[in-house]
Amino acid sequence: MSAKLPPTPTADLLWSDERLLGFGPMDRTHEDFYRLAFDLLTCHDGGAGYAAVARRAIAAFEAHAVAHFGEEERWMQDSGFPAAGCHVDEHAAVLASVREVRAAVDEGRAGADLLRRLAEHLFTWFPAHADYMDSALAAWMCKRTLGGQPVVLRRQRD
Ligand SMILES: [Fe+2]
Ligand SMILES: [Fe+2]
Repeated sequence: MSAKLPPTPTADLLWSDERLLGFGPMDRTHEDFYRLAFDLLTCHDGGAGYAAVARRAIAAFEAHAVAHFGEEERWMQDSGFPAAGCHVDEHAAVLASVREVRAAVDEGRAGADLLRRLAEHLFTWFPAHADYMDSALAAWMCKRTLGGQPVVLRRQRD
């Protein structure tokens, strides 16, 4: 049994104002994405209750992904957002990976290494998805609900 230490958080793994897109409901969901993906990353083999912790972490992430992607897809559908196809396809691909990992964990075929690899994939995937797809949807939703482009207020870095 390997007992790897959880990774030291770096800027890539933590939520920050840099990631705000200016549409509040989406930004709050994205902050949850970071928290729950970090829980996957920091599951580690070795503790007595590891299997239960791993199962809880991947179940929580799957529930988040279903809600997160479903919410964005409803916004696109209800508002007649153009070119939603690629966006929906990316969500479906990520959700399929999450479900594969969940099945492996639930059946005892995988442990912390697979959760860690999934989390690394999620942290790599998210910034480009947010920049190219979610940001366009956020701007569209702000325009529809507030009548203008999003205004993002970020805290000043020291
Ligand atoms: Fe998103
Ligand atoms: Fe998205």
